[in-house]
Amino acid sequence: MKNRQYITARRIVSWAKWFVQQEVTSGDICVDATVGNGNDTLFLAECTGRTGKVYGFDIQTTAIEKTRQKLNVAGLLDRVTLIQDSHAHLDMYLESGTVKTVMFNLGYLPGGNPSLITKPESTLQSLRVALKLLSNGGLITVASYRGHPGALEEFTKVNEFLSSLNPKEFKVLRLEPVNQEHIPPVLFVIQRHQ
Ligand SMILES: C[S@@+](CC[C@H](N)C(=O)[O-])C[C@H]1O[C@@H](n2cnc3c(N)ncnc32)[C@H](O)[C@@H]1O
Repeated sequence: MKNRQYITARRIVSWAKWFVQQEVTSGDICVDATVGNGNDTLFLAECTGRTGKVYGFDIQTTAIEKTRQKLNVAGLLDRVTLIQDSHAHLDMYLESGTVKTVMFNLGYLPGGNPSLITKPESTLQSLRVALKLLSNGGLITVASYRGHPGALEEFTKVNEFLSSLNPKEFKVLRLEPVNQEHIPPVLFVIQRHQ
């Protein structure tokens, strides 16, 4: 079978979307913490429907503008508020307990400046804040890479922090291929249980 789509060959980002689709329904409030080229923001805007709202964050003007254009072409710009600020400040724009999903795709803007990467300190700060924003059953997905300079340090800190969360309050999954030659990215999925 030449063209078979193996479920185990799915990319980590596609798994992140799959988890989000299990929980997000029309009318929900969702956050893309790293809009980049806007692919995840567009996906969230489709999931939340006409009555929902998506907040997209990025520190780079290029990322915000690319995403704005992408949403405009798709006719979904009115569902999204784009904010050029660090995701460490999520709580300046959103209220505790109101958000269904926060997606993080760490690393650098594909095709952009590879030195403008997510950094361990602000990533951890934003994860702390994002946990408080989640409604009951709400999810955070974190696609964490280990290949580019600085990535392994960030991954290690994220892994340590998420492993230390109280399991009565949050369940944390870690998904990764274990038999690849290169160092694959890891997906973390966190869900609030109360
Ligand atoms: C891997 S890209 C995101 C890809 C994106 N989700 C997509 O669908 O194309 C990572 C993005 O994180 C952004 N970033 C880096 N540090 C940030 C921070 N402190 N707050 C918000 N965004 C940040 C980068 O500018 C970059 O655009």
